[in-house]
Amino acid sequence: MAADAALEARIDSLLQRMSLEDKVGQVVQGDLDSLSPADLQLYRLGSVLAGGNSEPGKRYNASAKEWLDLADALYQASVNRNDGGPVIPVLLGIDAVHGHNNVVGATLFPHNIGLGAINDAELVGRIAAATAEELRSTGFEWTFAPTVTVPRDDRWGRTYEGYSEDGALVARYATAVVQGLQGSIGDDGFLDQKHVIASSKHFIGDGGTFEGHDKGDTRVSEAELRDIHGAGHIAALQAGTQTVMASFSSWNGQKMHGNYSLLTEVLKQRLGFDGFVVGDWNGHGEVKGCSNQSCAASFNAGVDMFMAPDSWRDVYDNTLSQVRSGAIAIARLDDAVRRILRVKLRLGLFEAGAPSSRALGGKFDLLGSDKNRALAREAVRRSLVLLKNNGGLLPVSPRQRVLVAGDGADNIGKQSGGWTLTWQGTGTKTEDFPNAESIWQGIRSAVKAAGGEAELSVEGRYEQRPDVAVVVFGEDPYAEFIGDVPHLGYQLDAPKDLQLLRSLKSAGIPVVAVFLSGRPMWVNPHLNASNAFVAAWLPGSEGGGIADVLFSDGDGKPRYAFEGRLPFSWPRSAAQSPLNAGQDDYDPLFPLGFGLSYGQTADLPELSELPGVSAAASQSGLFFARGAEADGLRWWLANSEGESLAVAQLPSLDLVAGVRMLATDHTAQEDARRFVFRSQGGSAELRSTTAIALSALSKESPFLVVTLKVSEAPQGALRVGIGQQTIDISAELRGFKPNEWLSIAVPVHCPATAPIVDDVTTVFHIQSSGATDLALSRIALGVGADRVVKCPSAP
Ligand code: BGC
Ligand code: BGC
Repeated sequence: MAADAALEARIDSLLQRMSLEDKVGQVVQGDLDSLSPADLQLYRLGSVLAGGNSEPGKRYNASAKEWLDLADALYQASVNRNDGGPVIPVLLGIDAVHGHNNVVGATLFPHNIGLGAINDAELVGRIAAATAEELRSTGFEWTFAPTVTVPRDDRWGRTYEGYSEDGALVARYATAVVQGLQGSIGDDGFLDQKHVIASSKHFIGDGGTFEGHDKGDTRVSEAELRDIHGAGHIAALQAGTQTVMASFSSWNGQKMHGNYSLLTEVLKQRLGFDGFVVGDWNGHGEVKGCSNQSCAASFNAGVDMFMAPDSWRDVYDNTLSQVRSGAIAIARLDDAVRRILRVKLRLGLFEAGAPSSRALGGKFDLLGSDKNRALAREAVRRSLVLLKNNGGLLPVSPRQRVLVAGDGADNIGKQSGGWTLTWQGTGTKTEDFPNAESIWQGIRSAVKAAGGEAELSVEGRYEQRPDVAVVVFGEDPYAEFIGDVPHLGYQLDAPKDLQLLRSLKSAGIPVVAVFLSGRPMWVNPHLNASNAFVAAWLPGSEGGGIADVLFSDGDGKPRYAFEGRLPFSWPRSAAQSPLNAGQDDYDPLFPLGFGLSYGQTADLPELSELPGVSAAASQSGLFFARGAEADGLRWWLANSEGESLAVAQLPSLDLVAGVRMLATDHTAQEDARRFVFRSQGGSAELRSTTAIALSALSKESPFLVVTLKVSEAPQGALRVGIGQQTIDISAELRGFKPNEWLSIAVPVHCPATAPIVDDVTTVFHIQSSGATDLALSRIALGVGADRVVKCPSAP
């Protein structure tokens, strides 16, 4: 942006009055879950973020008022100063990535993948502007959006955060979203109190990682990095984005958080970016030679503000001593602080007063307002991509008897995906969504209004035979690396939704499939088992937008057109990834840009049902890793009385008193499972829906290898194993240092004590006869480990 001499002079005078401590404070951002207003006042941090699992009172469903009160408290702490030093208000950031999605009652717009299907930058700009207003009502002034990633391998768990595999579309949207959030440069409204600071993320190449691994390595030429992955960033910079977030990923082996040439030489010098670079969640800690607590290298490479959620205190102390020792030059520190102050001044933060006193502060009726919900509903309607409509089944007459089935039909959490009240989007309840409508509710009101009859049965049961069935199914919510998958096959191991579709179809009922997903997936069997098939992505709070398009006016005329067009190529086989338009052997089932319209009559022929991938992860001996069970595996808990329950949410319900299961962290957030056994003991099991051929697998991998940490050593026996065999490892575990992660290998099969059984469905048992507290981050068949347990001698 053009330099503003008066503003720069103000920065000069602030810098002169700031102590070294003041300056270091500005370059550190902590998370509100790990810091109090008193900490903020003491350390004078430049910014506070609310991570996906961080909220007032540690309640994911805190009220808007609690959010605003917290924003006020943080603001007041930041301006409460009487030692004569300069007062610099804190900047409050949050991930409003599909609406203000952390706050109960906010409008939830379709995730970016769905917006990509609309191909209308103007609409997406209006959505951004609406989101900015909802943010402002709760006191937040900075969103970590837009995600201008260009996902190229849809196995990546963040595919849905991207608008398209096509960089040109991402670029058009980047311009519109940055302008919607911040206002347009030169307009009166630019960065006024109805707008918020944007963040172009993640810079750069996050969507290009090898095999779609989150935080992985993007191995592409500089030209490809610039032209494909840079397209959105360049547009966002031209539109004036005030912040850019560094990517967790690497480019050709080097972590972006440590890349001087791209962060400083390219972004700041060549592209002239004069705002600031914020790091990602402890992203600095992944740079070689760094830790979450300390990383001069990242700062020197060009990260201006550390995102140090829980590590802010150490980062502050260490950065201060690195400045004192000369490991960080004063000029570099001054540059970073200047950039941060520039953004705060442009935002008018110094004159704005407390968040609640600003133009939209406390205007909670903006959250989920009729206007914003109507906008979201329009987006839902226009994002739907019709992939099959054999015999012109759609639009369906609402004057009939309609059966609505599938576990996505009446589930607002599921239709909204990750980053919805919680980071993973899991663990929410219908009551958490006061301003929302499920897909079923939308269908029910459309059908009722026309005089038809609608019935909901998740399992697809009915008393009176329906004229048509709408089955809503698809991926359960996930975010980031938890959503990484080994292939694009949908439910290959446990085809429960396919069975539902087939049972309806074989009863002769015409079936409309509505597929919820954060990426294109291989669903050939599901396409074959339905007469019409709609890719609905992750629509958000306005499930009613689906009925708008599926149902006719009653006289056979569509009420709304199918306008959505594929923003990503749709695979012909589950192994087809990466799959992007323009590649040499491009052979998708449906190409980028595909989407049927009403009036098109061609039928989709029967498709091959060979998935193209052989074994699922569980069949290769990997059962639990990176926070996720392999496809088709599920945890069960049991107490010593033999009562058991399948774990549907974490923390697990307390029905089974002997043991509780929780999410915990090993190398990343929520990538491990913690088991708290009470004194009466209990057990946990990982069960598979399909049998595992253990004898074949264990030839190559004769051990069950478990990575674990012991917080409280077992009081009694602690047995682990696979299939029918378990071995007591309590003696070994008592030798673990508390809270140290180690791997331990247990023989799969001890010939003297148990026969080898082939078709195993319990792939992991852990049984405790007394109290203990331990955590597991990986369970797999393998060969070696830090500790190897021998078979017990024959009885
Ligand atoms: C994500 C970012 C997000 C940040 C703050 C990170 O884990 O990669 O996209 O903005 O957390 O929640
Ligand atoms: C935070 C997210 C963050 C993630 C990173 C979560 O607890 O809430 O914002 O992206 O951790 O691992």
